[in-house]
Amino acid sequence: MTTRASLHGLWSSQFTFVLAVTGSAVGLGNIWKFPYIAGSNGGGAFVAVYLVCVAVIGLPIMMSEVLIGRRGRRNPVATMLLVGEEEAGQRWWRWVGAIGVVAGMLILSFYSVVAGWSVAYVFKTANGELAGHTDGEITAVFDNLVASWPLLFGWHTLFMLMTIAVVARGVQRGLEQAVRILMPALLILLITLLVYAMRHGEFAAGLTFMFRFDFDALTAESVLVALGHAFFTLSIGMGAVMAYGAYLPEGTSVGTTSLAVVIADTSIALLAGMVIFPIVFAHGMDPAEGKGLLFHSLPIAFGNMTGGAFFGTLFFILLTFAAWTSSIGLIEPAVAWAVETRDVSRAVAAWTIGGIVWLLGLGTVFSFNVLADVNFWHGTFFENIDHLATNVLLPLGGLLISVFAGWVMCRNSTAEELDIGTGYLYRGWRLLARWIAPAGVLFIFMYSSGLLGWLRGLNA
Ligand code: TRP
Repeated sequence: MTTRASLHGLWSSQFTFVLAVTGSAVGLGNIWKFPYIAGSNGGGAFVAVYLVCVAVIGLPIMMSEVLIGRRGRRNPVATMLLVGEEEAGQRWWRWVGAIGVVAGMLILSFYSVVAGWSVAYVFKTANGELAGHTDGEITAVFDNLVASWPLLFGWHTLFMLMTIAVVARGVQRGLEQAVRILMPALLILLITLLVYAMRHGEFAAGLTFMFRFDFDALTAESVLVALGHAFFTLSIGMGAVMAYGAYLPEGTSVGTTSLAVVIADTSIALLAGMVIFPIVFAHGMDPAEGKGLLFHSLPIAFGNMTGGAFFGTLFFILLTFAAWTSSIGLIEPAVAWAVETRDVSRAVAAWTIGGIVWLLGLGTVFSFNVLADVNFWHGTFFENIDHLATNVLLPLGGLLISVFAGWVMCRNSTAEELDIGTGYLYRGWRLLARWIAPAGVLFIFMYSSGLLGWLRGLNA
């Protein structure tokens, strides 16, 4: 074992680590993105492919990040530098950490704006703004919100302040306290809403939609969407899990904790689907409506149900809490980096990095109104940042991280960190980390860069 100490303290226990990584993993990806992409990609068969991707690509990369993080015990940039030098005398791996730190800031810049919608909807549902109106009026509430830059500006600012306030307090007093309160609350809210959906929603129809594995509905494209989403939802590919792993005490199990996170994240995505689809079906709405599923269709459905105002409010509190514990994970790598290398206090680091992300987020704020017509590359500023981070930087980072753990690190080192012997469990992980995960990620990467389409074009 290495004897390096973390400069930011350690998680109090293995359980808090699982709670924190689960908190980072469970977010807008699970509750906003998963239902709408499952809805738009035909339901059950998509869910099946996503589950396979999580198991064979997500889990080994998650384990790789945790073990690299705990070995280096620094921010992702310094960790990749240290471990790369130790294991193979290679210094350039620090750029993988650097790309991750930047990707986290880019993702947070738009994540905070969408999370801001969720905070706004907590208030809108609570003061009855969405009850007793026509479908058109409820839809207009959302369209008016995004059309007004001062409103988006305000909610985005509020959400960034919430994130900075937690991260500035440090690992034990900030991050750990937040997940200790928010994660149990999230679970209680989710179960309450599940019971509500069972009693008042079209529960059977929702279940059938999610779990009828109709493989005819599956296209090559939805397989790739499922792969990409597995990445985003598990928070892997950008060193966030590595940063959290740096605070993991010795003598804890990398395999068990990673498996627990993967199972928790997946279960919560499925439970969120079991809440959302029955409610959407109860009002006879289309599950394939896309990005607006949560802010257009769901409020309409809640608006027409008994107790809809109350349970609608609970729903958006749930979404806000989930986004909050994720935003903390998105900013932590950059904050840890600043504390370690810029010789500033954690509070100064959190406010500075948070300020930069906030500023960058204004690009997304304006993408829905004043700059809505400025389109280039993949669309608006918001769509470009999302595309760059999610479809380029995450797959690239994930590919390099699994290559690093599988090929660059010595067998002895990874075996020592994983501490599961050298039998079939260890060999299974290594096979996945060396071959299966990189191949899978390469596939997503070729797809998102348009290479596959281009090759297909050559064949046609
Ligand atoms: N997993 C988060 C979600 O599903 C989003 C996310 C992607 C993330 N990468 C991350 C969160 C890194 C924290 C850290 O919403």
